[in-house]
Amino acid sequence: MSGYNYTVSNSKKLLLEAEEISKKALGSAGAWKNLDEIKSQENKTLGRKGSITSILKEIKNIPPEERGNFGKSLNTIKVSLEKAFSAAKEHIMNEELRVSLEKEKIDVTVPAAKHSLGGIHPLSQVQRKIEKIFTSMGFSILDGPEVDTEFFNFDALNVPTDHPARDMQDTFWMSKKSNDSNQNTVLRTQTSNVQVRAMREFGAPLRAIIPGRVFRNEATDATHEIDFNQVEGLLIDENVSVANIKGVMKDFFSAFFEKEITVRLRPGYFPFVEPGLEMDLSCIFCSGSGCRICKKTGWIEFMGCGLIHKNVLKNGHIDTDKYNGFAFGFGITRLVMMKYGIDDIRLLRGANMGFLRQF
Ligand code: FA5
Repeated sequence: MSGYNYTVSNSKKLLLEAEEISKKALGSAGAWKNLDEIKSQENKTLGRKGSITSILKEIKNIPPEERGNFGKSLNTIKVSLEKAFSAAKEHIMNEELRVSLEKEKIDVTVPAAKHSLGGIHPLSQVQRKIEKIFTSMGFSILDGPEVDTEFFNFDALNVPTDHPARDMQDTFWMSKKSNDSNQNTVLRTQTSNVQVRAMREFGAPLRAIIPGRVFRNEATDATHEIDFNQVEGLLIDENVSVANIKGVMKDFFSAFFEKEITVRLRPGYFPFVEPGLEMDLSCIFCSGSGCRICKKTGWIEFMGCGLIHKNVLKNGHIDTDKYNGFAFGFGITRLVMMKYGIDDIRLLRGANMGFLRQF
């Protein structure tokens, strides 16, 4: 027996101690509330420096004839503890899962959360209405470049370089020249830049409107923006007259404002039309009897128009012996202001949700 530190009673004592530890640990199992508490108990008993592990390490000191029983009994204790810990962990995890599932439960009968849908900007609403009316009159809708050459924005429209008419529209000049013609480029000052492009592309006869964004390098105020929308109109056919402009526009405005509108023409100057004209509408607010908006005149100045200048038709490769035409151009932005009674143009591009939600 010499050489062994433990006597029979010592090995029994150790087993008793292990049983006591196990009993105590298992006895407290009901109070384990979470994984951390279980892990801490597990560590205290079965961890590297745990109490049961320390007793297991004593096995080398147990006399050989008792070692078998000692080891077996201690292993039984260890296994029962391991089982208890893993059952407790599983229970806690199931419980946590149950609670989280409970929380995530979807009640399909609850009404859906409200999604706020965006609205259509008043500029687009008005543009769509304009397009609908003109397409019903047989006009097609064309598009054109917002950055264009000096040629299409000015020269092709009978506005040569150094002509004072260039100063009528303050221009944003771009620093980059056109790739294909090496010409100066501009942010188009008018949708009229598409006139000659459209003639070249589609020839005559032609009926088209061209809505779009235009840019002018001017000071902003309640009625002027640097970035606004216009719509251009073109009608090229045989024997077109000023009476046709009047008729088409009167029909358009009456359809747009959904009431009878009268138009009148005055002389006006635009280099690309001859004769050049200004069109006024009977005041939509007082029907012509005179009010604050029309400054008691009964008329609202509305747009430029006229019969297309021969030079422009020629630039568009139109046979001027056979065809002539009219053109008009007005500000969609100003039409929106009139329709909704908006007194400051800057509100339209101000991205103010309070303002926009009204439309
Ligand atoms: C033109 O731009 C011509 N291209 C119109 C035209 C076309 C005439 C075809 C004849 C034949 P004007 O510079 O007047 O014309 O501008 C047309 C409209 O754009 C104006 O009536 C106005 O409604 C709008 N507009 C002009 N400048 C501004 C601005 N700074 N802010 C907002 N709207 C503007």
